[in-house]
Amino acid sequence: MTMAPSRALLSSMKRMSVSCGRLSNAPSLVRVRTNATTTGTASPPSAPVRPQGSATETASSTPPQPKKLKPLTQAQRAYLSSLLRVNQAGELAATLIYKAQTPVVLRREPHLRPLMRHMYDQEEGHLETFNSLIAKHRVRPTALYPLWSVMASGLGWSTAMLGKEAAMACTEAVETEIGNHYNAQIRTLLEMVSEWEAEGYDVDEEFRHLISTLRRIRDEELEHLDHAVEHDAQKAEPHWLLTGVIRAGCRGAIWVSERV
Ligand SMILES: [Fe+2]
Ligand SMILES: [Fe+2]
Repeated sequence: MTMAPSRALLSSMKRMSVSCGRLSNAPSLVRVRTNATTTGTASPPSAPVRPQGSATETASSTPPQPKKLKPLTQAQRAYLSSLLRVNQAGELAATLIYKAQTPVVLRREPHLRPLMRHMYDQEEGHLETFNSLIAKHRVRPTALYPLWSVMASGLGWSTAMLGKEAAMACTEAVETEIGNHYNAQIRTLLEMVSEWEAEGYDVDEEFRHLISTLRRIRDEELEHLDHAVEHDAQKAEPHWLLTGVIRAGCRGAIWVSERV
C-alpha cells in the first residue's frame, strides 16, 4: 500500500497521538502546515499572511515553517488499512498464480520462460512492497490468506492445464480487474490530497510516495495484461466464460479481502 522511513512515520504517529488521543494502527501520512503559531512573536492578527504556493517575497525574513501531522479521520485510517490489506492479498495471489502456471505452461511453450519469469519477478516485487508496508504500519493481513493461497494456486494450475491461451486469458482477466482496482485506489488518494491542499495542509512525502508506488504497480499490471493479449489470451475457448468467471472471482476476492 508506499511510504517513507518508518522512524519518521512512528514519530509522526506519536505526535498525532498527543493531539488527538491514541490512534489505531492504521497508517498516518498527512502533515499540516502551521503558521509558526504558538510563540508568534510578531504576528499581525488583522492581516494574516497566507503563504500562497509561490509565496515568499518575505522568505528571507520568515523562518522556515515547521510542519505538523494532521490526524487522519477514522474513515481514512480504515480505508488505508484496508487498502494495504487487500493489495497484499492480491499480490500474494498473483505470485501464486504465476508460480502454479509457469511449469505447466513452459512444458509446452518453453520459449515463454523469459516472459513468465519477468511477470513473476514483478509480482514478487509487488508482494514485497505490500508485505513491508503491512508490517511497518501494523495492519492486519486478511484473515483469508490461506484460502486465497489455495484458490490462487488452483486457478493458476487449472488454467495452465487448459493451455497457454487459457493461462494468458487468466492473466488478462486478473490484470483487468487489478488495474481497475488500483485506479480506484489512486483516485481516492488523489481526492484526499486535493481536499487537504484545498484546506491549506501539506501532504507528507510518504503519502505521495504511496500514490506513486500504486501508479507504478498499476502500470506493471497493465503491462502484464498487454503481454497476455499479445500471447493469444483471446484465443482461449470459451474466452468470454473464462474471463467472465475469473473477473467475477477477482471482484469477490477484493471485496472480501478489504473487509476480512
Ligand atoms: Fe502485482
Ligand atoms: Fe500482475
